[in-house]
Amino acid sequence: MIILGIETSCDETSIAIVKDGCDVLCNIIASTKDVFADSGGVVPEDAARRQVELILPVLHSALSDTNLSFDDIDAIAVTKGPGLMGSLLVGTMTARSLSYIYHKPLIGVHHTLGHLSSVWLNHSDTPQFPCLTLSVSGGHSDIWLRQSHTNGLLVGSTRDDAAGEAFDKGAAMLGLPYPGGPSIAKAAETGDMSAFVFPIGLSQEKTCDFSFSGLKNSLRLTIQKHESNLESLQADLAASYQEAICNQLCKRIEHALTLYPEVKEVHVVGGVSANTRLREMLQKSISPLPLRTTHSISFCTDNAAMIAAAGFFMHQENTDSATLAFVTSATLSPEQTFS
Ligand code: KG4
Ligand code: ZN
Repeated sequence: MIILGIETSCDETSIAIVKDGCDVLCNIIASTKDVFADSGGVVPEDAARRQVELILPVLHSALSDTNLSFDDIDAIAVTKGPGLMGSLLVGTMTARSLSYIYHKPLIGVHHTLGHLSSVWLNHSDTPQFPCLTLSVSGGHSDIWLRQSHTNGLLVGSTRDDAAGEAFDKGAAMLGLPYPGGPSIAKAAETGDMSAFVFPIGLSQEKTCDFSFSGLKNSLRLTIQKHESNLESLQADLAASYQEAICNQLCKRIEHALTLYPEVKEVHVVGGVSANTRLREMLQKSISPLPLRTTHSISFCTDNAAMIAAAGFFMHQENTDSATLAFVTSATLSPEQTFS
């Protein structure tokens, strides 16, 4: 089954064509992150305007790169949320129009289910369920216990900022460009991770939840204290701050594994999963269990291939509200047909 995926939830305009949920025939991503490098974050109106400009050229590239036409496409999957309203509308309106014109079924995909599906892209091995998935991006930090591709339980979540947000806000405080994750990771390469000791949120609790607001505040106070020689300490601060974020993520996964010993493998997905230090630390934390990461870094951050994959698994598992067992407000919604 060949699915055309569309992802426009934030500042990436992406269209992918994926066969059977795994085989990525193309994954075009037009990112406007450089436009927002100096503004410290995405400006929603500007992001939506760029989505309008880019969506049709990106669609054209996806079809011409693969030599496919809409005759070859079996269904269209599109991110239906959450995300920036203006940006989402560009993707969902484009998907609806294409579905109507070419008579293709339309699958509305929750953005998080897209990230959860990203580890299967360009991997042909059989999924091992149950698995624990650490899903960490600019908008969410969650731990899912999953029984299948579309069926799972949210066992932990952030109580304030997301991990990616902690990277982005920390970078802005340190005078590093947006997006903060890659900037901090780069600065940390030459820094000493033990130079500063930052607090690990919720360390007194036995929980799978996260909290990054205390850590962020601690960075702010440390920066104030060392304002006069901040430049020379930037790398050490970045390395120590990154270490504190990764430490908390690992500790919560370790705790989740004590609660769910039946888990066969651990996954890490979302933009923050591109972080090399996090991958290293997680692999140690969960050993001897295998850590499944995305095949390519471009599948960590927002992309349409993961949306096409999620659309395929929703179709394959015939997802409807009765088969979903998510117990919190962050439920992954069932397949929606807009046409
Ligand atoms: O999944 P994503 O592309 O978009 C959302 O759904 O939010 O994640 C973006 C987030 C940003 O906060 C960015 O700083 C973070 O992922 N990120 C990283 C790295 N690359 C991107 N964080 C840490 N290390 C990285 N290498
Ligand atoms: Zn995302």
